[in-house]
Amino acid sequence: MSVKTFTLAPPLAADRTLSPTLYINQRVKELWAAGEQVYHLGFGESRFPVHPKIRAALIENVDARSYLPTLGIPELRAAVADFYTKQMGVEVTTERVIVAPGSKPLLYAFQMALAGDTILPTPSWVSYAPQARLLDRPVLHIPATPSDEHRLTADTLRRTLAQSSHDQHILVLNSPSNPTGQMLGPELLAEIAEVCRATNTLVLSDEIYALTAHGHTPHVSIAHFYPEGTVVLGGLSKHLSLGGWRLGVAIVPTGLVGQQLLNAVAKIGGEIWSCVAAPVQHAAVAAYADDPEILAYIAECTRLHTARTQHFWRAISELDIPCARPEGGFYLYPNFDGWREALAARSIHTSDDLARHLLDKWRIATLPGTAFGSPPEELSLRLSSSYVDMERDEQAASLLARHRAGVDADALVRDHHPAMAGAIASLRSFLASLHE
Ligand SMILES: Cc1ncc(COP(=O)(O)O)c(C=O)c1O
Repeated sequence: MSVKTFTLAPPLAADRTLSPTLYINQRVKELWAAGEQVYHLGFGESRFPVHPKIRAALIENVDARSYLPTLGIPELRAAVADFYTKQMGVEVTTERVIVAPGSKPLLYAFQMALAGDTILPTPSWVSYAPQARLLDRPVLHIPATPSDEHRLTADTLRRTLAQSSHDQHILVLNSPSNPTGQMLGPELLAEIAEVCRATNTLVLSDEIYALTAHGHTPHVSIAHFYPEGTVVLGGLSKHLSLGGWRLGVAIVPTGLVGQQLLNAVAKIGGEIWSCVAAPVQHAAVAAYADDPEILAYIAECTRLHTARTQHFWRAISELDIPCARPEGGFYLYPNFDGWREALAARSIHTSDDLARHLLDKWRIATLPGTAFGSPPEELSLRLSSSYVDMERDEQAASLLARHRAGVDADALVRDHHPAMAGAIASLRSFLASLHE
């Protein structure tokens, strides 16, 4: 019997890349199934339990089953507006809030809504560029190198924009950043705002990690400096560990641009996702209620993420691996260019090769820099601290319980993180093997 095949639509037919993320995750599963120990530093998911109040709100609303407004129920939009106004210090009205099944479809919808090209810092989160490719939007990467810790500057942005043949652009910013953990300070944001204002550039400011800032640098939104041209994106996936509930939010710019974008996204959402699941929307009202108990819970989870991520960073620095100090979230972006010759002698020439080698030989799962737009020969990897020693729900709950019982977060990481210690030891052995 002959098997019928179909021709894929052009953007998909043109994309022949095998996702490195997919390879790593598949391989980790195979190794786990074979009973092998694997240190999974490739997976970026906050693993803490659902807060009891939010859990109760979801259960209470399980019978809510009707379709809801595409932009979100009014009480949730109002709660989000109040939350952002109080917590982030950005004045937000209910009419500017959009609620959607995750910030990911929102990022896609905003790119779909606006003509022009997409400008991305290097490195940047895995989905921005593929989303643009699906939409047939040109992408320009702002170059950055490990030697300057991949820092974005107004100058490199200006130079990248100068290469564009379009008369309007979308710039995606992400602070704190996945993958580097770095944050953008107010002076830089003010400069970027000036450049964007002068070049017809809309900013999609992905601030999904805002409430996981480690406390060295306060989170500042570019919306303070560019309210008429910034869309702020966030959601419940990171600071409340609710990724699978699919609840993202966007705050559109002030004025006419905001109205125009809101209408466009309402149209897109209405034809694609209709609305966020009704029980989740009702439960999210509790999550955005500015409730001191929930805010304390977010702070507690962030303290643990901070201790875990900073511990990893210190260990990496002690191994003399260049790596920017993370300021938020749970990611690190170390660079191995210093070992290029020894690695080449082992046929490791790209970050993809390096990620495969670390997994196959040293049982450390990471993501290669190529997934984040870094050039293949730049030997950067993204490590995530979010999963190790919290692979099972009971582990995450027990860490939290110990912390609540008074165990200091740093002591917890030192004494109750066998997988993290194992991952660091394996990394040390890998580096030692390069001198053999
Ligand atoms: C930088 C960044 N933006 C957006 C998302 C998507 O989050 P959501 O669950 O809201 O779709 C993620 C999730 O990994 C992320 O890391």
